[in-house]
Amino acid sequence: MRIGVLTGGGDCPGLNAVIRAVVRKGTKVYGNEFLGFRDGWRGPLENATMPLGVEQVRGILPRGGTILGSSRTNPYASDDGGRRIRDNLAELGVDALIAIGGEDTLGAAAKLHAEGLPVVGVPKTIDNDLGATDYTFGFDTAVNIATEAIDRLHTTAESHHRTVVVEVMGRHAGWIALHSGLAGGANVILTPERPFDLDQVCEYIEERFRSQYSPIVVVAEGAVPADASEVTQTDRLDSFGHMRLGGIGQWLADSIEQRTGKEARAVVLGHIQRGGTPTAYDRVLATRFGLHAVDAVHDKDWGQMVALRGTDIVRVPLAEATAKIKTVPPERYAEAEVFFG
Ligand code: F6P
Repeated sequence: MRIGVLTGGGDCPGLNAVIRAVVRKGTKVYGNEFLGFRDGWRGPLENATMPLGVEQVRGILPRGGTILGSSRTNPYASDDGGRRIRDNLAELGVDALIAIGGEDTLGAAAKLHAEGLPVVGVPKTIDNDLGATDYTFGFDTAVNIATEAIDRLHTTAESHHRTVVVEVMGRHAGWIALHSGLAGGANVILTPERPFDLDQVCEYIEERFRSQYSPIVVVAEGAVPADASEVTQTDRLDSFGHMRLGGIGQWLADSIEQRTGKEARAVVLGHIQRGGTPTAYDRVLATRFGLHAVDAVHDKDWGQMVALRGTDIVRVPLAEATAKIKTVPPERYAEAEVFFG
């Protein structure tokens, strides 16, 4: 069988580990051939391909990013996207496709499958917000990077008696904020799921200063104040109407400084959280996803996504997998609240 592989959406540490596992097992165990598609759905839409075999995947296990490149190209942005992809795959002699991506990439894969495309999905996002899997690779790496940053920021905050606001990724879900905030001993953690009260945040900050230590606030990029009129669209959105990284972090630091009369600084971790080498946990999870994805292709179990349930890798229908986002439940947030102030 000739299998096409693509990676779509934001990059994520562990993508190369998936590609390597798919190619190594597919070649060795099933005698498959592979073709790489460049830059997500742009590859099969525009016939942008690259050779993909055991030679190309040598040495990529610890490398961040993706050797295939990525993009947020949506095949359904044009009416004939689905048909073009099917025609191009037929022309290239590609029998099946493995799509590695988040909600958008896999949402498109689900639609293409419904139109008859033989596709298997692999979930990826550093945000860990895909409903059908317990964890996605990339999340552990992002949390470790953010935790290390928080550890470092504690000492500089203390030396200057300042509040430091650390903005982490998480547009719709606060998993990175929650886990890195807990691991790093943050004094306040703010997530998109729970609109925050600025007065309450400032109370926690004053409480922390009274203990002679300096406060660290971890805020997810998608967090919002309960009184939404407090923060303007210009603070939050860029000229494309996308969430502006750094918008909420800087706004919070400015507001805290104004209200407490003490210096505050904002640190935006941004794409550092997605760059560089994956942790051992993410390498193992990504590798297992890759191995099981190529098994699903071998079984011709089309329209499935591999997922982690407990310690097992299972298959779930793509349509179901992309239907629901996994947000931080109130009881998980409440565990962290014990440490606020
Ligand atoms: O992968 C999802 C994510 O990490 C979000 O948390 C963040 O909002 C987004 O990517 C930013 O991606 P980019 O700037 O690459 O479009």
